[in-house]
Amino acid sequence: MDGSGRRARTALLAGIAMTLASPALAGTATRSPFGALADGSKVEAVTLTNGHGISAKVMTLGATLQSLIVPDRNGKADDIVLGQDSAAEYLARPNYFGASVGRYANRIAKGKFTLDGKTYTLETNDGPNHLHGGAKGFDKRLWKIDSVTGGAEPKVVLSYVSADGEAGYPGELRVTATYSLNDNNELRLEYRATTTKPTVLNLTNHSYFNLAGGSANKDVMAEKVTLHAARFTPVDATLIPTGERRAVAGTPFDFREAHMVGERIRDGRDQQIRYGRGYDHNYIVDGAPGTLRPAARIEDATSGRVMEMSVTAPGIQFYTGNFMDGTFFGKKNRVYRQGDAICLEPGVFPDSPNHADFPSARLDPGKTYSNVMVYRFSTDR
Ligand code: GLA
Repeated sequence: MDGSGRRARTALLAGIAMTLASPALAGTATRSPFGALADGSKVEAVTLTNGHGISAKVMTLGATLQSLIVPDRNGKADDIVLGQDSAAEYLARPNYFGASVGRYANRIAKGKFTLDGKTYTLETNDGPNHLHGGAKGFDKRLWKIDSVTGGAEPKVVLSYVSADGEAGYPGELRVTATYSLNDNNELRLEYRATTTKPTVLNLTNHSYFNLAGGSANKDVMAEKVTLHAARFTPVDATLIPTGERRAVAGTPFDFREAHMVGERIRDGRDQQIRYGRGYDHNYIVDGAPGTLRPAARIEDATSGRVMEMSVTAPGIQFYTGNFMDGTFFGKKNRVYRQGDAICLEPGVFPDSPNHADFPSARLDPGKTYSNVMVYRFSTDR
């Protein structure tokens, strides 16, 4: 090896040694007050940050992802989830911004299900149906902070104990929500639960993403979505699945390749689009439920932000904020209108307790429920 070759080799080895020796970028987990509710109860928040400018704020009301700051392709940080500035405003709105939803995310037809021969009646808070655990679901409960950990992978664990019979569901349910953020720009969220009696549940997170960021003042019609799902579950006029598993091929529901949200959202020939007022449908995620696998990807051309989502759940609800009607405002006094965000809510299928051939929503004592979702952020250059 000649002199220059040796020098190049030495420099390369030094580079490798430096990379190996450099410690993982430090993350932080910081606890702070987040105001109070009308009854005086205090709300707290925990902010997780990594060394790449990502910051996730989780508040105890509803174990809610209250803000998610992510840099764009030029390093400019912005909040990419919809929400409210104060805890009290979350209680006043039926939108479930960033919330942990339970006991049963999405709908149960006519608020009724039968388990081991007994029929249970739940509140009907969405026309004839039960939605998102009822008027006072997990999103409106104060969760407890169990632990806050800093370091390479900052983490917060929140918990809530739902009493036997709460909202009409059987069994005392002990639930945790664990949010963690790593150096690979992945926000991981896991819901776990145990019960004292056989019950049904479907816990999810209801974040509203707008990758252009709050200060861009844009809807999501030009954001490109990919959904790793060959089939979806069509619904009736009240958004209850008919039981069919329909191929997306040849329909406005086909997102196996990236499409702009707005490209086919007004295709009125498809009755499913009209029933949903756009997209408000459960997709059957390709691959084996229970294993973490790619479910969705969103790309925003203006900011360059990309979000990839992996899930363990059998399904994912793709909802384009169709019920937001511009009559109220969220963070920074911004009015939220139809199509301002994309929700991707992983879980079992809607109304599973009334469909024997859908993946089961049942949980028995001695078993632990788990639902994991990982959001990975990057930019297009
Ligand atoms: C879910 C439902 C929607 C709507 C929102 C909350 O995404 O599928 O129909 O109820 O929650 O507004």
